[in-house]
Amino acid sequence: MKALVLAGGSGTRLRPFSYSMPKQLIPIANRPVLEHVLMNIRDLGVSEIGVIVGSWASQIDAVIGDGSSLGVRVTYIQQGAPLGLAHAVRLARGFLGDDDFVMYLGDIILSGGVAEIAADFRARRPAAQVVAQRVADPRAFGVVELGPDGAVRRLVEKPRWPRSDLAMVGVYFFTAAIHQAVAAIAPSRRGELEITDAVQWLVSRGLPVRATEYRGFWKDTGRPDDVLECNRRLLGELGVLVDLDPMAQVVRSHIEGPAIIGANTLIEDCLIGPNVSIGRDCVLRGTRLSDSIVLDGASILEVPGMHGSIVGRSAVIEPAANAVPYRLLVGDDTRVEIMAR
Ligand code: DAU
Repeated sequence: MKALVLAGGSGTRLRPFSYSMPKQLIPIANRPVLEHVLMNIRDLGVSEIGVIVGSWASQIDAVIGDGSSLGVRVTYIQQGAPLGLAHAVRLARGFLGDDDFVMYLGDIILSGGVAEIAADFRARRPAAQVVAQRVADPRAFGVVELGPDGAVRRLVEKPRWPRSDLAMVGVYFFTAAIHQAVAAIAPSRRGELEITDAVQWLVSRGLPVRATEYRGFWKDTGRPDDVLECNRRLLGELGVLVDLDPMAQVVRSHIEGPAIIGANTLIEDCLIGPNVSIGRDCVLRGTRLSDSIVLDGASILEVPGMHGSIVGRSAVIEPAANAVPYRLLVGDDTRVEIMAR
C-alpha cells in the first residue's frame, strides 16, 4: 500500500500565519502538522508517500525533505492550483500506479491513528473505505449517509441541509477503482473536483464502499482555535511533563507541564504553562504565558499575562519605548486583544 498526502491548498482561515507559511507546517507540540500526519502513516507500515504540494513547495521540502528523518520515502507532486482533492488523485496517477493507497489530508490531526481501520481495509479491500466521525454541525464537511444495514448510501460535500451527522475526517482508503471515478466526475459548484463526488460515483455504480467510525480525537487545523485545541490535546498526552530540549536554557523560572521548549531558547524570570509549546531560538523574559504556541525565533519580553495566543516566527513583543502605552506594527489580518480600560 502507498499513501497520498494533500499539502497544497490555500489556508485562508489561518491568516495571518498562512500569508508566510503553509498551514500544514504550523507546529503542534513543536512538530509541524504534516510531520504528525507522516508519522501516523508510517505507523500503518506504509513508507512510500506521495505529497501533493502547491505554491509553498519549497518550505515543505526544506522541512520534510525526502522523509528519511521520519523513516519514510517522500515523492513530491506539484499541483499548479488547488483544483480539488480528486484533482490531486488525478495528478498522482503515475506515482500510485495500480496500488491500493491511503489518502490523508495534510492539515488534520488524529491523535489515535487509524491502524485498525487500515487492517480492516486490507482484509476486505472494498473499492473505497472512508473514515468518519459524528459531529454536531456537519455542514462544513463531506457527509456520509448510511442505509439501515450500515452500508454507505450517499455522500455529499458540505450539504446545506445534512441528512446525517457523520462527517468525513479526511482519511480515505482506496483501491485502483478510484482512478476511473476521479476521471469521470466534473467540478462541483465551488469549482473543485471533489473526492466526495468520486466516492459517490463508485457508490452509484454499485461498487463496495464502506464507512468506518473513528472515535478518537480528530481535528481539522483550519482555524487558530483548532490549532490551540490540538496543541492542548497532544501536549496532554505528555502528562504533566516538561519536554525541555537539552540546548534550551531556563533561568529563575517556573514551568508547569505539559509544556515543550525547543533548542537554543532562553526562558528567564518567567512563569510558563500549562499547555505551552515554544519553538527554537526564542527569548522569553519576565513573562507569564499559558495555553499558547510560540514559533521559532520569537521574543516575548515583560508581558505579564498572555493566554490562548499564537506568536509567529521571529515576531517581537516587548515594552514600548518613549513612554507610549502601545506601539503596534500589526500585519494584515493580525488579531491583537488587549485588556479593556
Ligand atoms: O477536514 C475534513 C474535510 O476535508 C472533509 O470532510 C471534506 O469532505 C473534504 O472535502 C475536506 O474539506 P476542506 O474544505 O476542509 O478541504 P481543504 O480545502 O481544507 O483541503 C484539505 C487539505 O487538502 C489541505 O491540507 C489542503 C489540501 N488540498 C486541498 C485542495 C482543495 C490540496 O492539496 N489540493 C487541493 O486542490
